[in-house]
Amino acid sequence: MKGLILSGGHGTRLRPITHTSSKQLVPVANKPILFYGIEALKEAGITDIGIIVGDTKEEIKKAVGDGSRWEVKITYIEQPKPLGLAHAVLTAQDFIKDSPFIMYLGDNVIKGGVKEFVLKFERERPTAQILLVPVLNPQQFGVAELEDNKVVRLVEKPKNPKSNLVLAGVYLFDSTIFKAARAIDYSVRGELEITDAIQWLIDQNLEVKSHLIQGWWKDTGKLEDLLEANRMMCDEFETKILGQVDENSKIDFKVIVEKGAQVTNSILRGPLIIGENTKISNSYVGPFTAISENCEIRESEIEHSIVLKGSKILNIHYRISDSLIGKHVEILGNQRRIKNHQFMVGDNSKIELV
Ligand code: DAU
Repeated sequence: MKGLILSGGHGTRLRPITHTSSKQLVPVANKPILFYGIEALKEAGITDIGIIVGDTKEEIKKAVGDGSRWEVKITYIEQPKPLGLAHAVLTAQDFIKDSPFIMYLGDNVIKGGVKEFVLKFERERPTAQILLVPVLNPQQFGVAELEDNKVVRLVEKPKNPKSNLVLAGVYLFDSTIFKAARAIDYSVRGELEITDAIQWLIDQNLEVKSHLIQGWWKDTGKLEDLLEANRMMCDEFETKILGQVDENSKIDFKVIVEKGAQVTNSILRGPLIIGENTKISNSYVGPFTAISENCEIRESEIEHSIVLKGSKILNIHYRISDSLIGKHVEILGNQRRIKNHQFMVGDNSKIELV
């Protein structure tokens, strides 16, 4: 079985962060989202993995490399334009050939991995197998309608969804999917939809099985979903202190302090992670916060946030929460006290609160 991870596309919903970076490389609990997908496939025994890349291909290649870090083989497949998930499948045909494959959307995180899902497909060998999850906002996803536990209809982002079961970003296919992707037309949003290709399989009376996710799943396309994914992954931590924490600091609950990090006169209330060579002084870092490498937090308070590498937050006395701060950002305060701040700030920005 081969693996296909989709990491093309634009990522408009996380702008301005994704003006300069790929959305699949935004870290959750200090690990790029895309790496969770590679690890999930590896754990399911899949080592021959193609990654669909688009505009951000160089950045993705640099971050992932040849896959040897995970003992997998990565093949990059360029999709000239993000013309839809079924278009991405067609673009990958030379790589997939006639092998069955798992398709994994590179901006999705699934707790508990995909091994069970892969085993079920291998046991039952349907034409396609989809992963379904109940959500509160089905109109934002591909929605599945079931009759007697059988998928009878799939509709992409319907205005009036007929069920709360949506397609999570993991699919298993045999090579019939190439025929299906060729048979369908572009949707109103101008994409070749995988949802329509799977509907084509259903219409041909081919077997499309579904599997309900028991654990937790997130499409990290939006800020609140990204923060929730970060929360779930931080919650998995065990305390690990590799950097220096002085005796005036206090550590509560599950806290990771990576090597080279320095914590001085501060409170760290986990679950949280402080990246390599980051300095925290006279500050409070609260639950569900992931601070990447080479950052500095001084005389400030932050919780339930993600801070990307090289950023500085200095003298911000009122708590920063629910925020995503890009790379090499500087947020600089002074001694005057202001109330609450909430930020979504792109890379290389500088904010002065005076
Ligand atoms: O997250 C689950 C949802 O993913 C499903 O419920 C929907 O049925 C499915 O269509 C898809 O919807 P999205 O609108 O969220 O897909 P998005 O455009 O965000 O693309 C998902 C991933 O695939 C993302 O990592 C970008 C990549 N991609 C996307 C397109 C359109 C490509 O590599 N190539 C593409 O052409």
